[in-house]
Amino acid sequence: MNSFWQKLRTPFFTLAPMADVTDEAYRKLIAEMGKPDVMWTEFVSADGLYHTREIKKIPDAENPLMRELLFSDIERPIVAQIFGSNPETIRYASRLVANLGFDGVDLNMGCPDRSIEKQGAGASLIKNPTLAVKIVASAKKGVADAHSDIPVSVKTRVGYSHEIIDEWIPTILATEPDALTVHLRTRKELSIAKANWSLMLKIVALRDKSGMSTRIIGNGDIRSVAEGKEKALESGADGVMIGRGVFGNPWVFSGRVYSEIPKTERLDALVSLAHAFETLTPPKHFNILKKHIKAFVNGFNGASDLRAKLMQAESADEITDIITAYDKQSHVETQ
Ligand SMILES: Cc1cc2nc3c(=O)[nH]c(=O)nc-3n(C[C@H](O)[C@H](O)[C@H](O)COP(=O)(O)O)c2cc1C
Repeated sequence: MNSFWQKLRTPFFTLAPMADVTDEAYRKLIAEMGKPDVMWTEFVSADGLYHTREIKKIPDAENPLMRELLFSDIERPIVAQIFGSNPETIRYASRLVANLGFDGVDLNMGCPDRSIEKQGAGASLIKNPTLAVKIVASAKKGVADAHSDIPVSVKTRVGYSHEIIDEWIPTILATEPDALTVHLRTRKELSIAKANWSLMLKIVALRDKSGMSTRIIGNGDIRSVAEGKEKALESGADGVMIGRGVFGNPWVFSGRVYSEIPKTERLDALVSLAHAFETLTPPKHFNILKKHIKAFVNGFNGASDLRAKLMQAESADEITDIITAYDKQSHVETQ
């Protein structure tokens, strides 16, 4: 294993894949405000990629699934996450990811969404280890088909209805992934129960016992770099992945204290995000941006009124106008 994963200084920090949150627009903002060591795309359906490109022949510029695979150099190293349960489409999608120039391909084996699980993908692969092993092998074949050697990694959970680390982790490690992210909850716990970081010790010990150099990344409930470093130190994890901690806080990886980031800086960041969001091709529905509005416009005097106005906006220009008017008003009030 001689991938970029091995060159990272530990503990390293990664941005979690989050559908309809960590799209290219938000990743660019995060890269500017405080870049993590590795970024992930939102997940993309391997079956969907195969069908839209190969069967329906939809041009990439009109294919919403290809939009999830947009990235720019500022985001590197960036890993594309795919999901699926069909080894052939996983092979196809991994080849595509390698051809597009990504730094790695990641396989989703933890998503609890019913529509994903119905396809035998996501967390349901934890219940089907034989298929899970085939999926990793297929991804490696796809990368080789592209004459590439980008690393293949897996993101999973500690079990399905209960913790089964002792069986599941060695099964995945035996496929020799370059990195393994473990969300420290079972499928059944969704993201509701507290992430169980004490389980990380056992996972790291299993990796050490296997003799593999797979990078182990812990995930769940980390809200700051300081907290992540502490958890990595206690558990021996090589890296820490942050998901919801980036909501409204693209500075999270910079180590800045969120409460000390001036309101004007937060609002300016939201304005740039809105403009970048509008450039995604094909466009995403503007309502998707509203998650970010709720997260950014929070915790200061007048936030709820401003948020209510912004939630009515239908374009980046409207967002800019509302925020400019708010800034002027605040300025008058402080005179
Ligand atoms: C809105 C949302 C979308 C998500 N989408 C994905 C995804 O596409 N792929 C994936 O592996 N996990 C996905 N996750 C799970 C996160 O990557 C992460 O594992 C989870 O949020 C726990 O980390 P956290 O406590 O730091 O948020 C998503 C989570 C959220 C909240």
